[in-house]
Amino acid sequence: MTKRTTRSLMAMKESGEKIAMLTCYEASFARVMDGVGVDIVLIGDSLGMVVQGNNSTVSVSMDHMVYHTRCVSAGVNEALVLGDMPFGSFHNASLAMGNAARLMAAGAEMVKLEGAGPMIEVVEYLSSRGVSVSGHLGLTPQTAHKLGGFRVQAREKAAARQLLRDAKAVEDAGAQLLILEAIPATLAAEVSTELGIPTIGIGAGAACDGQVLVLHDMLGLVERPPKFVANFMQENDDIESAFRDYVRQVKSGQFPGPEHQYS
Ligand code: KIV
Repeated sequence: MTKRTTRSLMAMKESGEKIAMLTCYEASFARVMDGVGVDIVLIGDSLGMVVQGNNSTVSVSMDHMVYHTRCVSAGVNEALVLGDMPFGSFHNASLAMGNAARLMAAGAEMVKLEGAGPMIEVVEYLSSRGVSVSGHLGLTPQTAHKLGGFRVQAREKAAARQLLRDAKAVEDAGAQLLILEAIPATLAAEVSTELGIPTIGIGAGAACDGQVLVLHDMLGLVERPPKFVANFMQENDDIESAFRDYVRQVKSGQFPGPEHQYS
């Protein structure tokens, strides 16, 4: 594998090679993921739930994200390192710029922020100042309280049209990647066709340009995982084989199957 960059992710979209991404929070797991060809490691604020044991991601601070980004970066040579901007860290442009700079200093090569609407000008502000940005639409866990829980999004026609408009706005603002979480597979397919930038799905069906799962979910450590999760430890003897199998199944289109998607 060669070093993954924003250019190679674009080339993968263009050639139809699926992008394999996993969340990661520390160096040892990062080293193994990097070694088996995971293309992007995301230091997700899901760490608030799977590492800190809380019931949402809003407890995660910039200090936590900087610490875990530094840990993961120490284990990565070739994967692209994507750092999550936690709740409250990007809600105006200058706040976002300062916090993105902190994540980049800790090793993030791209930063991810949830939402559209007023966040579009933040994406534009960051990307026009040299920050590589990923959007995140659909189920945005930081706003789960407002959404009424962790629920599938954009099932109704008007909401689906709005999500498509938001996705285009995120791209037009300069984002170089877009995460689509828990939306109908047909809508994710449409977004993936309409956008020039790669889309990465989690509960968004097989037509996305790549897939991401939360590390603890795919290792079978979560008691009641969402429908879109597959436990890669069921068919594999060790963690390295589970990661390798995940990469193989994403690249071959075997994962996600129809049973992992929403209509
Ligand atoms: O924080 C996270 O792990 C994420 C993924 C669910 C995409 O944002």
